[in-house]
Amino acid sequence: MAKLTVNDLDVRGKRVLMRVDYNVPMEEKEGRMVINDTTRIKETLPTLKLLIDKGARTILMAHLGRPDGKKEPSMSLRPVAEKLAEMLNRPVAFFPDTIGENVEKTAEALKAGDVLLLENVRYYPEEEKNDAEFSAKLARLADIYVNDAFGAAHRAHASTAGVAEILKRKGAPTAAGLLMQRELKFLGEELEKPASPFVVILGGAKVSDKILVIERLLEKADAILIGGAMAYTFKLALGYKVGKSLSEPDKVETAKQALEKAKAKGVKFLLPVDNIIATPVATGKLNKKGKPVFELQNPRINSAQDIPEDAEGLDIGPKTVELYKEVIRGAKTILWNGPMGMFEDSRFAAGTNAVAHAVAEVTKSGSVTIIGGGDSVKAINMAGLGNSVTFASTGGGASLEFLEGRALPGVAAISDK
Ligand code: 3PG
Ligand code: MG
Repeated sequence: MAKLTVNDLDVRGKRVLMRVDYNVPMEEKEGRMVINDTTRIKETLPTLKLLIDKGARTILMAHLGRPDGKKEPSMSLRPVAEKLAEMLNRPVAFFPDTIGENVEKTAEALKAGDVLLLENVRYYPEEEKNDAEFSAKLARLADIYVNDAFGAAHRAHASTAGVAEILKRKGAPTAAGLLMQRELKFLGEELEKPASPFVVILGGAKVSDKILVIERLLEKADAILIGGAMAYTFKLALGYKVGKSLSEPDKVETAKQALEKAKAKGVKFLLPVDNIIATPVATGKLNKKGKPVFELQNPRINSAQDIPEDAEGLDIGPKTVELYKEVIRGAKTILWNGPMGMFEDSRFAAGTNAVAHAVAEVTKSGSVTIIGGGDSVKAINMAGLGNSVTFASTGGGASLEFLEGRALPGVAAISDK
């Protein structure tokens, strides 16, 4: 059923409490926290501009990182308020707390068109517990609730679920923001009956992370192209050797079953036919988590199906790239989730980059191309092609759970039309 959206509401003069996902990557530079990627902020601007134009009094709440209920200064949203003001080209007030009398007074004093961002809602342990009292305190700030935080919609927290339920019970409208609406349209409706050929490209480290998505998409896809470390678990399932590649031996049975299902359904299920490999050499050093650090030496093409014992597969190889490009070129609908290799290291980025370019290319010829969030969006942005696809999700875990067909608590809490 279609969800109520901000477009359906009369927000003039009302206090609109809006959950956004401003969980943006940050880095400390010269003693200050600096935002590395503003995509998630940018994607909320259409909803914010609409609220401002319609004269709403907007109160934004968001989380940043995982402070575990403590007031961790490096996870303050203050720098986000500054960035948002710059991007909106108008003042954005920041309040260094999330609930309580002073927050309520500040919210009450907002004028039509004003925007206020509250401090990290996860500074309170009650947020992640979806605590009823905490939710009720948030609800005191709102006449209307809007959720534009698709990226956090898989969490049943106070700001994504609890507060909405309370407001609904009080008869207050709870609606989707424009970004939420777009996410649901592209990851949901567009993939309901995708134009064929429907090609799914899946990468990333683990079969266990993607198996539910694979099973669901096997019902609809014409072809599934596999990359990333999860390809090595599939290779094990086919009896090949994977050397020191990342793999999940305990998921080999699961991989076998997926391969059989694909065959039974006539879905083309492609695995890499060659790889970029390297030799991991212990440096004797430990990383921050106390794990040994390896140097990846002698990157090279491995054209055989088996990977040598001392080597690790880190990207799809050139023959695989050609094979995958060919399938992508013929697609009318594409869903891509997960990189083809360890793309953060330029020596192992060629496969992911080639896929990004092929997907951008086929978009130009009118195919619908949807990128499922997380690392694949990072990869497409790194290739400078972020605007060259039909839709790139702002959700990582959320987009995956949504593609699995699970009901997301943050979506469920929004009223139907
Ligand atoms: C994300 O970045 O995936 C979302 O903002 C959710 O964050 P979380 O995984 O810490 O709940
Ligand atoms: Mg996450």
